[in-house]
Amino acid sequence: MTVRVYISRDSGALCVGAEEVATKLREEAERRGLAIDIVRTGSRGMYWLEPLVEIGTERGRIGYGPVAVKDIDGLLDAGFLQGGNHAKGLGLVEDIPFFKNQTRLTFARVGITDPRSVADYRAHDGYAGLMKAIEVGPETIIEQVTTSGLRGRGGAGFPTGIKWKTVSQTIAAQKYIVCNADEGDSGTFADRMIMEGDPFVLIEGMTIAGIAVGATYGYIYIRSEYPHSVEAMEIAIEEARKAGMLGRNIAGSEYSFDMEVRVGAGAYVCGEETSLLESVEGKRGEVRAKPPLPAHIGLFGKPTVINNVLSLASVPIIMDKGAEFYRDYGMGRSRGTMPIQLAGNIKHGGLYETAFGITLGALVDDIGGGTRSGRPVRAVQVGGPLGAYFPRALFDTPFDYEAFTAADGLIGHGGIVVFDDTVDMAKMARFAMEFCAIESCGKCTPCRIGSARGMELMDKIVAGEERAANLLVLEDLCNTMKFGSLCALGGFTPYPVMSALTHFPEDFGAEPKRLQAAE
Ligand SMILES: Cc1cc2nc3c(=O)[nH]c(=O)nc-3n(C[C@H](O)[C@H](O)[C@H](O)COP(=O)(O)O)c2cc1C
Ligand code: SF4
Repeated sequence: MTVRVYISRDSGALCVGAEEVATKLREEAERRGLAIDIVRTGSRGMYWLEPLVEIGTERGRIGYGPVAVKDIDGLLDAGFLQGGNHAKGLGLVEDIPFFKNQTRLTFARVGITDPRSVADYRAHDGYAGLMKAIEVGPETIIEQVTTSGLRGRGGAGFPTGIKWKTVSQTIAAQKYIVCNADEGDSGTFADRMIMEGDPFVLIEGMTIAGIAVGATYGYIYIRSEYPHSVEAMEIAIEEARKAGMLGRNIAGSEYSFDMEVRVGAGAYVCGEETSLLESVEGKRGEVRAKPPLPAHIGLFGKPTVINNVLSLASVPIIMDKGAEFYRDYGMGRSRGTMPIQLAGNIKHGGLYETAFGITLGALVDDIGGGTRSGRPVRAVQVGGPLGAYFPRALFDTPFDYEAFTAADGLIGHGGIVVFDDTVDMAKMARFAMEFCAIESCGKCTPCRIGSARGMELMDKIVAGEERAANLLVLEDLCNTMKFGSLCALGGFTPYPVMSALTHFPEDFGAEPKRLQAAE
């Protein structure tokens, strides 16, 4: 009997040797006359176990990992194709606590299905949401997405239903759906995992958005650093077209929708929605002043929905299972689940999807297992390069948009980057200013000039040059950037800087008390 073997083709698995493992296993099985069928999936998101090899058995999928090419002979000798015992054996993959304790709604199929097969997608509830959307029509779709409480997962947390309603109410002959897959935040990879592991869910989400607002064309803007995502999306778009799920009269309905991939050119600011639109239009990625909102005048001057990958990929399950099902997860105004990405110096780095409300400490210490270096966790940066640094004292903060705002932080795209006690927070604060200076689009003065002055000030403070006076100037500069910048690149750079100063004053050579007073 042919044994089904599952190995990820996700770039996180490929970069630790998944391709070589798959090739070696195929060759060795052939040499031994063993019948196997290797299915290339996305990753389960347990990156410390990649390359993870899963064997399909009657009991479920049995995992082995991390597997190296040199392990293949031994694994075959141990009868791993029948689930035999081996030092790399992990038991049933779905029983591994990191995986088992998650609530996978957006990531329900990632690591399980073949991302190139529409049939496999359908066999795992794929397209059920779109079929319901076609049945109920635009108004009910928008009502469902609004009721679900879904907020934009790209960073700002804006209610998705309200954005869609604005575009639906704007009259125009042509409207667009733009998917923001620029994923520039440090420590984030959830968009990439969706595109490489379950691209059809994104296509389905964009199609539902198109039906909801009356848009017939979509663009997925993918960062150039994600060549595997570009390939995965292009293959999936073609497969969806062949299956009649993109193009004219989708699934035989009255609705038509098609899309294409656009590749970025490596600018962080091109993740900002208006800058992204400029880039798709073939121009330099520079931020547009708002108003007008992209919902009114967006891509090529037409009303445009622009949403993050995770926002769009969460829509099919909302349509399939109902708004209330999704809304029942979470806390406060943060409804549903959040695909959280654990990165940096962490033992169990990966993707952990769970309902909002879990504490930062539970994520870092219990689920992530503390640092990979084995040293104490000193700081975590949440929400990308513009997010605040949190000390252990704030580890009881629940993962919730409002709770993070109250602690002068942000959830952003859900990335958590962990640092141990060897981190120099003054260097991290300086880096925030340097990053802003390098990535600034240059359109407004507080960001363009302020970030360069900020770097200089940080150098003086660290060198002990007129420290007290320079700390006051830095605080003043941060306020100018925060309140005077045109977009969040300049506007949020003060968060990592000020949080480092507030929570780790000892790294700036000043007495904690003096700094707290200056704050
Ligand atoms: C400098 C900067 C970079 C950004 N980068 C991204 C990004 O990489 N991906 C993303 O989805 N949103 C990014 N955003 C947020 C977008 O401007 C926008 O809010 C988002 O695409 C809206 O989609 P959502 O409502 O689904 O979150 C960025 C914003 C700024 C200011
Ligand atoms: S804040 Fe920076 S990135 Fe944003 S518009 Fe101003 S100069 Fe450009």
